[in-house]
Amino acid sequence: MIAYRIFPWLFITCLCVCICSYGQPGTRSEKLLLDNGWRFHLGDIPFPVIRGNSESYNASKAGNAGGAAAVKYDDSQWRVLNLPHDWAVESDVDSSANVAQGYRKRGFGWYRRSFTLDSTDKGKNLELQFEGIATHATVWVNGQVVRYSWSAYNSFYIDISAIARYGKEKNQIAVRVDADAMEGWWYEGAGIYRHTWLVKRPPLHISTDGVFAQPIKTADGSWLIPAEVTLENTGNKSAAPQVNIAVYDKYGKQVTSAQANATVDVLDKAVVKLNLHVNNPELWNIESPVLYTVKTVVTANGSNDQVTTKCGFRTIRFDADSGFYLNDKHVKIQGVCNHIDHVGVGTAMPDALWAFRIQKLKELGANGYRCSHNPPSSILLDLCDSLGMVVMDENRNFNTSPEYLAQLEWMVRRDRNHPAIVLWSVFNEEPIQGSPVGYEMVRRMSKIVKRLDTSRPVTAAMSGGFFEPVNVSQAVDVMGFNYEIKGYDRFHKEHPTQPMTSSEDASGVMVRGEYVTDKTKHTLDSYDTQFPSWAATHRVAWKAIAERQWMAGCFVWTGFDYHGEPTPYTWPTVNSNFGIMDICGFPKAAYYIHQSQWIPNKNVLHLIPHWNWPADSIGKPIKVMALSNADNVKLLLNGKLIGEKKNDLYEMVSWEVPYKPGKLEAIGYKNGKEVSRYVVETTGVPAQLQLIPYKDTLKNDGQDVTPITVQVLDAAGRPVPTANNHITFEIKGAGNIIGLGNGNPNSHEPEKGNQQSLFNGLAQVIVQSQPGAEGVLTITAKAEGLQPATISIPFKKVPAVAAVQ
Ligand code: GAL
Repeated sequence: MIAYRIFPWLFITCLCVCICSYGQPGTRSEKLLLDNGWRFHLGDIPFPVIRGNSESYNASKAGNAGGAAAVKYDDSQWRVLNLPHDWAVESDVDSSANVAQGYRKRGFGWYRRSFTLDSTDKGKNLELQFEGIATHATVWVNGQVVRYSWSAYNSFYIDISAIARYGKEKNQIAVRVDADAMEGWWYEGAGIYRHTWLVKRPPLHISTDGVFAQPIKTADGSWLIPAEVTLENTGNKSAAPQVNIAVYDKYGKQVTSAQANATVDVLDKAVVKLNLHVNNPELWNIESPVLYTVKTVVTANGSNDQVTTKCGFRTIRFDADSGFYLNDKHVKIQGVCNHIDHVGVGTAMPDALWAFRIQKLKELGANGYRCSHNPPSSILLDLCDSLGMVVMDENRNFNTSPEYLAQLEWMVRRDRNHPAIVLWSVFNEEPIQGSPVGYEMVRRMSKIVKRLDTSRPVTAAMSGGFFEPVNVSQAVDVMGFNYEIKGYDRFHKEHPTQPMTSSEDASGVMVRGEYVTDKTKHTLDSYDTQFPSWAATHRVAWKAIAERQWMAGCFVWTGFDYHGEPTPYTWPTVNSNFGIMDICGFPKAAYYIHQSQWIPNKNVLHLIPHWNWPADSIGKPIKVMALSNADNVKLLLNGKLIGEKKNDLYEMVSWEVPYKPGKLEAIGYKNGKEVSRYVVETTGVPAQLQLIPYKDTLKNDGQDVTPITVQVLDAAGRPVPTANNHITFEIKGAGNIIGLGNGNPNSHEPEKGNQQSLFNGLAQVIVQSQPGAEGVLTITAKAEGLQPATISIPFKKVPAVAAVQ
């Protein structure tokens, strides 16, 4: 879902909070952030043992939860913190912890938060919304257990209207989190790591995720929004509401509207269907992701509720012969898979950091994002909508029991308005994928999806089994291949009418700024030569997709490195090496390979390695590789021609160059004309620090963040690519450092605090504003023997986020 209540404008990084007021007492609808002021205890707190008769009798009564779930439990000594929170990233790495989870201990934790409700809130519908807790969670409100949650990746909504307290009496939330439970083989974080909300709305209201309004193009070529609105009545009077939907273009001009009447009985639900016709809408596409705003208002019994969603007008089609079409235009999907963590913050990702990541992927030339292997936070989907990126949304747990089908259903219900989503994936690499059991399970899951959305195909990311007599590929619309390059042609030949895509490929491994693969030092070279047994280099994997028109596209594993799943090395390596960018978002060589291949109209030219080799390398051959989409590349060293080669867009070109310090220069030619130039120079020793903020202002909402790139320059002002200086940061003004890192998969430096070493010339520090901040945030970087650097980032005044006090 996008902007929840009444904001008709497009937003990118802001929290979608609003308040609607209609002048009637008791009819205010509010979505209030409930992220601030939680108390946290690391570790489990056992429940008291109960033995006596009356103790047992009392303990089993509503509202009498014991231990840390009890209303009156004394949590005054617990730490106070704000969500989103990931306690795993706060700990040191530990060789005895699970390698897959990045050698971070997870364990158990407790959170508590109290709040009051005004007496005017009486009778309203009150809902707590948890967007994500890793991993298993039990939630109590006012001493009653109100939810067991079995997945870190599913949001859940708790109607507390019946049990809420008003006036001076406090409402008490307690959450016990079991993060030893795992759902994956990657870093999953620990704790309440996504936003939490309290929603207040009239008793007759629109259910959460209750507006489905996605445009479709009808057979006669006209556009229709067959809207469905789910209403719920938690009041004590039957309601006969009127439902109004209006659609607005990007300028805020209304383009269509429709009304309908409904009746909703007491404590019941009703679904209202309306058809909206739109003439000649502006289409949503990757280059120009035009969004429309859908405002749904329900009015009854003198009150009203309102929900704002976004939609995009676009058609999608997967063709068995020629791949993917967006608005009937062929688009090769140049996608990346990603997990959900970033350096310094783990899985507790501020919204603005998601914006940073999606923008980085756009700069790379990616046009597709696979939410591997779980539903993402909703802000990510909003960003893919607004920045133009097609999405494969993925279910986490492959299981057809009711609890897990409910997880799948929740994902589709929450996400089906997003124009960005073009595929629903029901699983990733399941051992029973090539069996009748797998087939039967997917048949059922596909049906669940189709009941809620017939407009997008269902896929599954298969890593084998697709040539078995009965297998999952027969139950999906689009066949998804993980790595199985050798199966592409045979499958296409045997199933000429089934559309196909890679759902995951490459898994090439490299370490940013390293040029030698050294097993003793756990380094991996940047020449795109290293990959695990099931995988392929970036270049081989892309060639296999690019040369087959019927392959809709690729999803490279992965856009960014992530904590955990270190491959091929384990301890002391703690992070993955698969990223096209490192865990901070700094480009590796793979970035320029893909950029060359994925942005044909940009003249890309980059050289590896750096040119800062030690004196004993002089005269020894060094492999120089040009990453470019030019036709020809010429290479010069200190003005002397090394050679000119015809470029191979799949393989790229390289030379063995006897090392001599100085200036290595490449010139790219297209149709005989110079189109690009790139220089690598031998630099001097580190002299001064430099800080480069990603954004030049910070919104003062206490949410906004910016990553800051840290590097050192030589006396001539050139970045030193081999610098590994240890840096200390000082911060002045109403902001905080929320995390730091350097992209080194072997680093054991803490990701919290105010210190970090550069790794191959770079580090990142992430700063966040405090609510209501004024003036500027000043950050100073210092290192022994270097001239310090100071930058000031002005705060930008924005409306305060509506939040629970
Ligand atoms: C795939 C798997 C991913 C990741 C990747 C590493 O098989 O789907 O989650 O583990 O391998 O290459």
